[in-house]
Amino acid sequence: MERLQKVIAHAGVTSRRKAEEWIKEGRVKVNGKVVTELGIKVSSNDKVEVNEIPIHREAPVYFLFYKPRGVISSVKDDKGRKVVTDFFPNYDKRIYPVGRLDYDTSGLLLLTNDGEFANLLIHPKHNIDKTYVAKVKGIPTRESLRKLEKGIKLEDGLTAPAKTKLLSVDKKKQTSIVEIVIHEGKNRQVRRMFDAIGHEVLKLKREKFAFLTLQGLRTGEIRELTPHEVKQLRTAAQKSS
Ligand code: URA
Repeated sequence: MERLQKVIAHAGVTSRRKAEEWIKEGRVKVNGKVVTELGIKVSSNDKVEVNEIPIHREAPVYFLFYKPRGVISSVKDDKGRKVVTDFFPNYDKRIYPVGRLDYDTSGLLLLTNDGEFANLLIHPKHNIDKTYVAKVKGIPTRESLRKLEKGIKLEDGLTAPAKTKLLSVDKKKQTSIVEIVIHEGKNRQVRRMFDAIGHEVLKLKREKFAFLTLQGLRTGEIRELTPHEVKQLRTAAQKSS
């Protein structure tokens, strides 16, 4: 037996908080009857409807995917480009990515059918560290990297403090490899941060999401998260909020 709002959130319909609002507003039915009480628990045999639509209750699944470049972080694309779910050809559950990586960005992307878990991890108040390695044009000075660390003004606001590390420099080609750790998820954030200090990103890869790494995976490969990892991620999100 699980709480009704949790069941709705798990089904990916909406967040747990929104589910609570909808229950109070009388938009949720259990076995054909409107339920407006929050504490109610339901079993897997109960039929739950939200806004008159039955919800699909599937066992939650959690995947870690090494996204290649040239793939959309979406479940479908109207321009016919490759999408992340193309890498799960025989998988019939409704899964979707937790946040996004740009089409040209490779690296670690989580996928799940657990809407509540996804919301928890992408909510900006849960400061989950994301580690990227960027190949950039030119050789950034310590000073300019410090600007990134302090926070930089982008058109949609100031970025939160970040960590950076200059990993290597190719003097001949005038390019550098820089590691950057951020915990927000603004659109194209890393690329825009480097643009703002005058160093265009030529290649970008997400190496880590919280404590998770790409270890043992090649590009395009997938593994399931262990129940322990899922638990640790929940704890990491709750701790940092
Ligand atoms: N920042 C970017 O610029 N692109 C990504 O894909 C992720 C973070």
